[in-house]
Amino acid sequence: MPYAHDAIRAIVWREECLELLDQRLLPGVECYQRLTSVAEVVSAIRDMMVRGAPAIGITAAYGVVLAARARYAEDAQCWQTAIQSDCAALAAARPTAVNLVWALRRMEQVIARAVGDPVAELLAEAQAIHEEDIAANRRMGQLGAAVLGECAAVLTHCNAGALATGGYGTALGVIREGFAAGLIGRVYADETRPWLQGARLTAWELVRSGIPVTLLADGAAAALMREGKVRWVIVGADRITANGDVANKIGTYGLAIAARYHGVRFMVVAPSSTVDMRLTSGAQIPIEQRAAQEVLALDNQLIAADGAEAWNPAFDVTPAELVDALVTERGLVWAPNAEKMMRLMAEVK
Ligand code: MRU
Repeated sequence: MPYAHDAIRAIVWREECLELLDQRLLPGVECYQRLTSVAEVVSAIRDMMVRGAPAIGITAAYGVVLAARARYAEDAQCWQTAIQSDCAALAAARPTAVNLVWALRRMEQVIARAVGDPVAELLAEAQAIHEEDIAANRRMGQLGAAVLGECAAVLTHCNAGALATGGYGTALGVIREGFAAGLIGRVYADETRPWLQGARLTAWELVRSGIPVTLLADGAAAALMREGKVRWVIVGADRITANGDVANKIGTYGLAIAARYHGVRFMVVAPSSTVDMRLTSGAQIPIEQRAAQEVLALDNQLIAADGAEAWNPAFDVTPAELVDALVTERGLVWAPNAEKMMRLMAEVK
C-alpha cells in the first residue's frame, strides 16, 4: 500500500457478506466473523465486535445492504417500508457516535430513490462511504502531521486507528504520517479502562506497524505530561457539535484539562461525518452508559469488592476551549468555536 504503515482492514465485504475482525478477541486472536443478516450486524455494533465512530457507521451501511437483500427477496413491492425497522435497529445500536446515523441517512437516500432490485446500488453507496473514510483519514494524517513541529513523543487515548475506521485511522493516521516523516519518535497510549482499547487495540496496531509504543495506566497521564515526555495529545472523536465541543472515549476530558495545565497541545482528529451541526453544544450529546460489569470485572473475573456498584459512561465531552487543533478532511482549525465550525462545514467540498 502506498501510505505509511497502513496494512490493517477490520471491515471487509467479501462474497456477498460482511466480514468483521472481532475486536473483542484482539490482541490474542485475529478472527474475522462472517455476518449475513442485519440482526447480526446490530449485535456486532452493540456488543463491540466492531467499535469506533467511523467503523460503526461503515458497518451499519453494509448492514443496510444485507437488510435490503432479505427484504427485497421477501417482498419486492413493500421492501422500502419493511426495511425502515432494520434501519431503526441499526441506529439504536449505539447512541453517541453520530457517524452511525450519518451513514444511515446516506443509505436511506438511496433506498428512497431505488427502482427494482436495490442491492447493487446500496452496495456501491456503502463502499463509497468506506472508501471516502479511508481517503479522509489519509488527508487528515497529512494535515495533522504538518503542524506537529520538531520530533517528539505524543500521547493517545482509546483506539482511533485502522480498527476504529475504514482503515488508516484518524488520530493514528496523524501518528502514522508523523512517524513516517520523523516527527514522532514514540507513542504513549493510555490503556483506556474499562474496555482497554489502548492496551488491546492501539498497542496491537502500533506494534504491527512498527511504531514504538509505551502503555500507561490512564491515571499516569498527568504525571507523564509533568515530566515533559509528550508534546501533543492526539485523539479521535465520536461526535463534535456546532460550537466545537468533542465527545470521545471516557477519560479524554481529563486529558484535555491536564494537557492545558502542562502546556501540552491537544489535537482532535475526526472526519466531517463526525460533526453534528444540529447540536449547538456538547451538553446535548447522548452519552452511552454501559454495563457496570465492564468496570467491576476483567475478562469475566470479578475484580471489585462484591457488592460495589459502578458508574460506566462510555464517553465524555471536552469543551472546545480545551482543543488546540481540530483536524477534519476539510481542513485544520485552530481553537475551534461556533463561527469557525460554521465556516468549515459550510464550504462546499
Ligand atoms: O467505545 P468505542 O471503542 O467505540 O469508542 C471509540 C472512541 O471513543 C474513539 O476514540 C472514537 O470513536 C474515535 S475513532 C476514530
